[in-house]
Amino acid sequence: MLNIKTIKQLRVDIKRWRMAGESIAFVPTMGNLHAGHLQLVQTAKQQADRVVVSIFVNPTQFNEQDDFTNYPRTIDADVEKLQSAGVAMLYMPEREEMYSCEVHTKVSVRTVTEIHCGASRPGHFDGVATVVCKLFNIVQPDKAFFGEKDFQQLLVIRTMVADLNCPVDIIGIATFRETDGLAMSSRNNHLTKEERRQGAYLYQTLCSAKQAVLEQQASFAEIEKTSLQALSEKGFIPDYFSICRRHDLRAAAIGDTQLIILAAARLGSTRLIDNIQLELIL
Ligand code: PAF
Repeated sequence: MLNIKTIKQLRVDIKRWRMAGESIAFVPTMGNLHAGHLQLVQTAKQQADRVVVSIFVNPTQFNEQDDFTNYPRTIDADVEKLQSAGVAMLYMPEREEMYSCEVHTKVSVRTVTEIHCGASRPGHFDGVATVVCKLFNIVQPDKAFFGEKDFQQLLVIRTMVADLNCPVDIIGIATFRETDGLAMSSRNNHLTKEERRQGAYLYQTLCSAKQAVLEQQASFAEIEKTSLQALSEKGFIPDYFSICRRHDLRAAAIGDTQLIILAAARLGSTRLIDNIQLELIL
């Protein structure tokens, strides 16, 4: 596996692969890799000749300095995992390489970023869209792979790619879960033993809400309210629990069929997000 730190170096190898007619799949990450990331890599491997993975803990998408500072960094273990997974190139730029001089430009996707995580974390999605756009320009992949756990992020990236005509296919991959249902996330490492046990309840609440919607047990608003209460009772501090239309993440109404339920909640100092998709047959 090539371990690359500079854009200049990266471009030499990408050009060599392109000259040989090879296709490139890209998995951007912030490191602290878990089985969910490796699933993205495996799927990427099946769809392209070369897989490039980036590890960059992007400072501009963090709202709190402490969150950035405490973000788990496990580079040696990550390198080993990527090597065993058959990744062709790891791109691990320094902060100065990505944000070298005074920055004058940012990518700001409107509308879909104004709700849910965008409302709770102002500027977060600008940071994500900008760094992903920069990474796409650097790597110039044919396809890029993202987990569906961060469903709003996936929609932000799809919107950016459509609006800016970025020549890359965006592939969303189903959330990888622990055996008790907790969505895999680097942030799970921050949970205490007790919080880790409680954490599974977020997905259970999403599953119960899905069942309630499918069986029309109550209105969407009532199901949201009951779910928020249930999370609070289990020790979460919920941020939102919203039954939405999948295509734009706006509140679902009667007659909508392609739905997603999005949830975010804090357990202690850790903010967890998750979602579940469902289809209503009218
Ligand atoms: O999902 C992540 O890990 C990050 O938001 C991403 C897409 C790598 C951008 O920094």
